[in-house]
Amino acid sequence: MSTKRLHIAIQKSGRLADRSLDLLRAAGYRLTKSASDLAYSAENAPIDLWCLRDDDIPTFVADGVADFGIVGRNVLAERAAGGANGLSEVMPLGFGRCRLAIAAPKEFDYRGAQSLRGLRIATTYPNLLQRFLAAEGIDAKIVTMRGAVEVAPRLKLADAICDLVSTGATLEANGLTAHTTVLESEAVLVRSTRVLDPELAPLAESLTSRFRGVVASQDAKYVMMNAPRSALARISQILPGAGAPTVMTLAGREDWVAVHAVCQESVFWETLEALKAAGATAILVLPIEKMM
Ligand code: PRP
Ligand code: ZN
Repeated sequence: MSTKRLHIAIQKSGRLADRSLDLLRAAGYRLTKSASDLAYSAENAPIDLWCLRDDDIPTFVADGVADFGIVGRNVLAERAAGGANGLSEVMPLGFGRCRLAIAAPKEFDYRGAQSLRGLRIATTYPNLLQRFLAAEGIDAKIVTMRGAVEVAPRLKLADAICDLVSTGATLEANGLTAHTTVLESEAVLVRSTRVLDPELAPLAESLTSRFRGVVASQDAKYVMMNAPRSALARISQILPGAGAPTVMTLAGREDWVAVHAVCQESVFWETLEALKAAGATAILVLPIEKMM
């Protein structure tokens, strides 16, 4: 039996840490924490997780020290904009959505990127900011920081910043307003462009296929209802992100059918109200636990 293990680098703390662990658990891996808090092992598969600073994850994966990584696309894009390669994005993971944006003090009269001309902009994403400014044809001074960018305007280190905005709470607390988006981001699965050890290939295949299933079923719902056969066309239009629904005639009622469908997008109360208005009754929305 092989003793080789697949290594996945995840964020040690921060916005993506818990959700990354949730994803692995939802994919069926039972995780136990190491004594050091810096790693996890799966009990039911040869998989180890390493908990790292997010900015270190791309390097470890590109060097082949870890086989996969879960990181914000922002970190990946910053690295790529700096000319580094060796990494590829396998799939978006549907959590940790945020944007990298230009932000400025509330009183700043921002009228698009042109307003940044000749100013000082603080960021931890100098490569992405540089690319953005070049594309906009703007000459501005980039002040590269390691963190706490949001305090730069107050300390007069910069006139504006370029930073991640998720809930907006950080900007709000610092009297800043978000403006132009430089990059849309979310958590992504990355892998090294190196060829994976063939012994680990089936495991890697199963991991990515399970992740796809978890991500696909995140918003997915199983929807069931009864409806007059004449309402079928209308109902198919209303169901969000559903393929052809399963339709079964109700026993003893030729003109009525049971409709079952997998909806890939969120099913809202408005959707249910529209279905009811179309003639549906006994509408049930069920969570989907697994999907492949
Ligand atoms: C980002 C960013 C802000 C915060 C914004 O940091 O630098 O500090 O999130 O989130 P909010 O809009 O919800 O307040 P992140 O957690 O990604 O950590 P890092 O940049 O230090 O890696
Ligand atoms: Zn970071």
